[in-house]
Amino acid sequence: MRKFSLLLFALSFIFSKAATPPDEGMWLPILLGNNESEMKAKGCKLTAEQIYSINNSSIKDAIVWFGGGCTGEVMSNEGLVFTNHHCGYGSINELRFSKGKERDLLEDGYWAKSKNEEISAPSLSVAFVREMRDITTLVQEKLVGVNESQRATKLQEIYKSLIADATKENKYEGLIREFFSGNAYYLFLMERYTDIRLVGTPPWSIGKFGGETDNWMWPRHTGDFSVWRVYANKDNKPAKYSADNVPYTPKHFLPISIKGYKPGDFTMIMGFPGSTKRYEFSKGIQYRTDIFDPHAVAERRIRLDEWKVAMNESKENNQRLNASYAGLANYWKNWDGEKRDLLKNNTSETKKIQEAEFEKWAADKPEYSTLIGDMNTLYNSYMPIAIQIPLTLNEGLMAPKLVSLALSLSILDTLLSKNDTAGIRKMTNQLKANDSTIYSTFIASADKRIFSRLLNYYYQNCPKEQRLEFITKILSKYKGATTLESFQKYAEMVYSKSFLGSKEKFDAFLTNPTLKKLRKDPAYIHLSAISTNYIIKYKPTIDLFNAKNSTLSRLYIKGLMEMQKGKAFYPDANSTLRLTYGAIEDYDPKDAIKYLYYTTLDGAMEKYIPGDEEFNLPKGLVDLYHNKEYGRYAMKDGKMPVAFLTNNDITGGNSGSPVLNAEGELIGLAFDGNWEAMSGNYNFDSKLKRTICVDVRYVLFCIDKLGGASNIINELKIIQ
Ligand code: ARG
Repeated sequence: MRKFSLLLFALSFIFSKAATPPDEGMWLPILLGNNESEMKAKGCKLTAEQIYSINNSSIKDAIVWFGGGCTGEVMSNEGLVFTNHHCGYGSINELRFSKGKERDLLEDGYWAKSKNEEISAPSLSVAFVREMRDITTLVQEKLVGVNESQRATKLQEIYKSLIADATKENKYEGLIREFFSGNAYYLFLMERYTDIRLVGTPPWSIGKFGGETDNWMWPRHTGDFSVWRVYANKDNKPAKYSADNVPYTPKHFLPISIKGYKPGDFTMIMGFPGSTKRYEFSKGIQYRTDIFDPHAVAERRIRLDEWKVAMNESKENNQRLNASYAGLANYWKNWDGEKRDLLKNNTSETKKIQEAEFEKWAADKPEYSTLIGDMNTLYNSYMPIAIQIPLTLNEGLMAPKLVSLALSLSILDTLLSKNDTAGIRKMTNQLKANDSTIYSTFIASADKRIFSRLLNYYYQNCPKEQRLEFITKILSKYKGATTLESFQKYAEMVYSKSFLGSKEKFDAFLTNPTLKKLRKDPAYIHLSAISTNYIIKYKPTIDLFNAKNSTLSRLYIKGLMEMQKGKAFYPDANSTLRLTYGAIEDYDPKDAIKYLYYTTLDGAMEKYIPGDEEFNLPKGLVDLYHNKEYGRYAMKDGKMPVAFLTNNDITGGNSGSPVLNAEGELIGLAFDGNWEAMSGNYNFDSKLKRTICVDVRYVLFCIDKLGGASNIINELKIIQ
């Protein structure tokens, strides 16, 4: 099924020419020379050197890691950055009333009409990749003789010393990541800028148009973009916020094409995809479909439902929770679709067949002959307790705010027991400094309901022999007609008595913290019971599983590369800079249905429900639509394009990434995947998997015609 270039596994990875152009694959820019001829064949007009160069300015110099979880791109000579709205709304949410109580910047949108009006976003930073190096041999030499249980610790040591070496003579941040489950290692030198300012954002109803209903769906009509600026000191170097800082001068910025595109046109996307597991074992897929996905989805549903109740109670609650709600809902929906598609595609069975082939091939090779058997044995001992991950950790018992807050106090516990006054002061100051943020999303009534419902979920779903005694005891102490009622009574006690129950009580505790008060606190007692049990009973087994599983995965990929000489292997996503190339392409989602590759504002108007939570539109936009005031941003037929599809291979983390045409000009921003291909982190279905992008012409139209921010437009290099 795979149809691309050849990769040989030696000490490092050597590519050769491919037969057919690939769409699958998140390629390392440093090795792009090997993909060059394929890219040319697909229509790319740029050389690998123009995309990634160590010595000269190249496209990679315009790409930033935005806020640690997204991608952004530099769009002007003055450090202007585009990214998605959903990448920026957490920060916009923090700034939403910075122009006064009457103006809600998140709800109504915002356009700085001059640099003076840009708003500093202290919690944001962006990082440029200045260099990447293959350090595989260096790392592997140091790993000789290290056994698997020590490997992770040893790796941390190795990373630390290599990074120290690499950053001795510069101010970069070093980052080392393993590739192919540890068959290769790369070092990244990143330059992080911390003075980032909000330049503009469309209203929430555009940036988030379609809400959760349309999320992960095509046809789509979301204006998912926001605009920022990077500031530097006088030497163009990173600096803390200062009024004296100046706009950053990039080594490269992206020109924009408003010429449009048609099916088959070359597209490439550069960004920071977060995580994929394309080489996962069959049992790993089973873990997703049978254990993690279903439980995590059910548990997130509980949190979402209770938050929704709170959000409907008051506008204030709604403002406090809606950005977090969207974040939580995003992967709730993703995991639900993932489970469905992994099952529908029989992914686990397909992997089993591949494993059987591998076993046959490996029969006479001592290095690999027992691998598949070992993997099955390992998983068989792990699967029965793996349910503790979704039931106990951050999707389960640890999910209520109160419990996660209590967890952050376990370090304070240690400091208090040691009477470490300096440490205690540092810790309490830190907690105090953050507590407004922490409590901004804490709504006690909702959190309390989440707390009791998640306890009940745990109780109902945890195998009897694994049930935590502490939780069973709650039931005998707090009698109720149902287990839920008992947990509710218990929750009443915990939330009313715990000093974590409100910011005021928490502050009072931090002013004069004592071990006695801490250890008497019912939320802390609750947390301690859960975490101690997990640490003693399950963590050692789970850690061991992870170590052994990573050894087996490493060997498996190495073996696959030997077995399938002639097939290309690209490394799984790991939040490092990648490039994926392909083309504009539509798809057929179901029998008798064909989807077009682009949407227009007409479609947004079809969906428009005035005043609706998800499908509202700003009046200004509706007026512009009726008057067809699209200026130069309209298509030839006079319509306003909104979103389009490509077949590029992306995943979460690519959000905000530039979608470039054959010339390296920006035609849009990637912002989503599609509902028919939700198992994309485990398999790439070229028939169905698409990238959903917002058309740059819609972005410019919103900035220019709706926002009236010609100052921003004038900064851009627009090719018509
Ligand atoms: N699905 C998008 C992504 O993961 C995020 C969109 C956020 N919007 C939302 N309705 N939650 O990149």
